[in-house]
Amino acid sequence: AGEVKWFSFLSTLTIKDGQVVGQSGVSQDITARKQAEEALHESENRYHSLFENMLEGYAYCQILLDHDQPQDFIYVDVNNAFEILTGLKNVVGKKVSEVIPGIQESNPELFEIYGRVALSGKPETFETYLESLGIWLSIAVYSPRREYFVAVFDNITERKRAEEHIERQLQRLSALTVIDRMITSSMDLKLTLNVFLENATQQLGVDAAAVLLHNPHQHTLEFSAGHGFRGDGIRKLRLRVGEDHAGRAALERRLVNVSDLTKTNQPFSKAALTADEGFIAFYAVPLIAKGQVKGVLEIFHRARLNPDQEWLDFLDTLAGQAAIAIDNAELFNNLHRSNTELMRAYDATIEGWSRALDLRDKETEGHTQRVTEMTLRLAQAMGQSDEELIQIRRGALLHDIGKLGVPDDILLKPDTLTDDEWVVMKKHAQYAYDMLLPIDYLRHALDIPYCHHEKWDGTGYPRGLKGEEIPLAARIFAVVDVWDALRSDRPYRKGWSEGDVRQHIRQQSGAHFDPQVVEAFLKLGV
Ligand code: C2E
Ligand code: SIN
Ligand code: SIN
Ligand code: FE
Ligand code: FE
Repeated sequence: AGEVKWFSFLSTLTIKDGQVVGQSGVSQDITARKQAEEALHESENRYHSLFENMLEGYAYCQILLDHDQPQDFIYVDVNNAFEILTGLKNVVGKKVSEVIPGIQESNPELFEIYGRVALSGKPETFETYLESLGIWLSIAVYSPRREYFVAVFDNITERKRAEEHIERQLQRLSALTVIDRMITSSMDLKLTLNVFLENATQQLGVDAAAVLLHNPHQHTLEFSAGHGFRGDGIRKLRLRVGEDHAGRAALERRLVNVSDLTKTNQPFSKAALTADEGFIAFYAVPLIAKGQVKGVLEIFHRARLNPDQEWLDFLDTLAGQAAIAIDNAELFNNLHRSNTELMRAYDATIEGWSRALDLRDKETEGHTQRVTEMTLRLAQAMGQSDEELIQIRRGALLHDIGKLGVPDDILLKPDTLTDDEWVVMKKHAQYAYDMLLPIDYLRHALDIPYCHHEKWDGTGYPRGLKGEEIPLAARIFAVVDVWDALRSDRPYRKGWSEGDVRQHIRQQSGAHFDPQVVEAFLKLGV
């Protein structure tokens, strides 16, 4: 009933002396095989018409295997969108290695994934960048039959560019944050600028950069920090404001750009530097903070640069940061300098006071200087830190400042004191406390003036402190003070011999003095 049958015939001819002398034949019904092939073609045609009108690209390909390894593939069918999205024409029947030479090397993952899908039948999707075409594709791969695959893809270059753009923005933002944190945390300008330049060159995608600092007194720009230079010629760079590109950027307060340094024949002072380094593109950006030119940021690249507005804006932002870094460092330095100067002025004042005290207490002249030096030696031997030594020094110099409140007729009396006079004399320790407490700068130096007449056994004054209740600085000082007092002549007695003094100190260990201090003192061997 109109049914088509397919046969295949196999004929055998017997030929003798060039004559056909016999013929036999076998026929085979191959209708079923033919039907299967037709069904396949039909389904492939259906695929074709389905994919022909899609906006996505469509490629039907056969994988070429070598020892089961995917080596290449042939385009069996593609749609219109394929040509539009890739720009590739007349590819059907060609190998991809002919259509896109070098693709095996640039995109090995394609062969791996296509091969895997064509052999396993399991669909996969992925995104890839085709270097030679400069496009990003998102690809879905199916396998309608073994060793064949269908790739349906879309050009996602725009989306990828947008993602990359956002990624770049984020990186730049985080670089700015790193620099900001550095500016606020570090007092060391060179260190800050080095971190700055490292981030700036990386984010701008340039080979080298340097910061020149403006010296407003000499009207010069001097190298301060650099990154990415091969040699150290840049370190010797010193320009007058107005000289060279960088000098011009500072003078005219504007960005100076040289697109190709090798094509300029002006007598640059750093022409040699530029040649050795192989720089081509150059930018100089003035660093301006609070309306003042703080320096110049120089950007060097060993190829031409084709920056977009975004790059230029970022360069501007970086320059603003560098200017703030320099301004901050100057502020800190000025503050630091005036602090140091203030400290020095204070210490000079204290020494002046202590000399005045010695002068009033005529017989004890030089006493303060001697006990101060000896106390520092003993305190250091007992492991006091540099910080503590600074306070001990001030305390020792001022230890008898309270004697300013003791009248001359008592202080200078050439005889032993009466009980009433003793009451007044002993007040000098309390007076010292009252005088020094309101002075912030000397508050930490109070221990010695206030407590140098306390005794280890608790019988001293003004508070009768005992043992380690007495600040260590005061325990140390007490030994030295008595040692020097006994060796010296006083209006009411002659100075003692060296041996008697040592004997007295040893004997007062654990009574008047802290035994550990006495031990350390005797070890000093004075
Ligand atoms: P200073 O003369 O510099 O004596 C400091 C400390 O050394 C004394 O504190 C005392 O601990 C010890 N020291 C000084 N001289 C002697 C001494 O001859 N024998 C002994 N055992 N220890 C001595 P102190 O006792 O609290 O005295 C404080 C200050 O009072 C003395 O400083 C001195 O300016 C004054 N002072 C003490 N005794 C007399 C005195 O008899 N006559 C007068 N005019 N002033 C005295
Ligand atoms: C400059 O810093 O003035 C430009 C660099 C050069 O041209 O040598
Ligand atoms: C001194 O010798 O100048 C001071 C004596 C004392 O500590 O009162
Ligand atoms: Fe005293
Ligand atoms: Fe003293």
